[in-house]
Amino acid sequence: MEQNVNLDAVKKMFDLTGKVAIVTGGAGALGEALALGLASYGADVVVTGRTVKTLEPVVNKIQGLGRKALAVSCDATKEESVEAMFKTVVDKFGTVDILVTVAGMAKRAPAEDFPIDDWQAVMDANVRGTFLCCKHAGKIFKEKKAGKIITISSVRAFAGHPGGYAAYGVSKGAINLLTKQLSTEWAKYHINVNAIAPCIFWTPLTQEVLDNAELYKIFMSRIPLGRAAVTQDFIGAAVYLASPASDFVTGQVLYVDGGSTAG
Ligand SMILES: NC(=O)c1ccc[n+]([C@@H]2O[C@H](COP(=O)([O-])OP(=O)(O)OC[C@H]3O[C@@H](n4cnc5c(N)ncnc54)[C@H](O)[C@@H]3O)[C@@H](O)[C@H]2O)c1
Repeated sequence: MEQNVNLDAVKKMFDLTGKVAIVTGGAGALGEALALGLASYGADVVVTGRTVKTLEPVVNKIQGLGRKALAVSCDATKEESVEAMFKTVVDKFGTVDILVTVAGMAKRAPAEDFPIDDWQAVMDANVRGTFLCCKHAGKIFKEKKAGKIITISSVRAFAGHPGGYAAYGVSKGAINLLTKQLSTEWAKYHINVNAIAPCIFWTPLTQEVLDNAELYKIFMSRIPLGRAAVTQDFIGAAVYLASPASDFVTGQVLYVDGGSTAG
């Protein structure tokens, strides 16, 4: 059967015009970069975080690109807060099309000494918070039979690491499986669920690695492309996974890692 390529559709493959995106952890380094990236391709963007004030500069930058933007307070670990955030977004924008779950945290310690409260805090922020946001996006996307979810994993989900990642690495491993689980459950509703798994990039989250010469050497030696990522490196992956270009892609973990997991 002959199938013609629809070149008009191809030209608009990465176009997000008219889409409403939510980026959690929008005041963080990656959150801001992804919010601006999606806005650059036409999306209106809601940024969320626990403190609205820290989100305001990001809102101003999105509006500077000519897109609508809104900051909404949301603690991703609290279900009532997540529900209220989605309600606010639907009230203001009428719908949601894209969710990017960037909110997260890291704590490192030797496994044998890992304070259990710290371990739980990482699991709550990274796994519980991601699940709650996906759950409530899923309700909306199920109704409209469309939606794009992008979770944020890490190269630490790929393999163990001697650097004290018994909480963080495990939480990101859980995000990989959550991504696959939701993609299989929700494929029938035409909801795409994929993860971006970054290697290290310099933010407050990774300052302690940058400050530790020995650790810095270990991390750099594991990146074949020879440098840490910069936040801009992740925008292409996010636009791809948010746009029609990835309509037949779901349940995938896209490692944007300079080759770290290639060999
Ligand atoms: N920086 C790296 O090298 C790196 C590498 C791989 C993956 N990641 C992941 O990328 C994501 C963003 O990291 P980043 O480096 O931009 O960190 P960041 O600390 O700059 O941003 C994380 C944001 O999440 C917010 N947050 C934490 N807990 C929250 C909660 N319960 N509710 C709402 N917001 C909450 C923080 O306030 C912060 O604004 C994280 O999931 C992180 O695990 C980062």
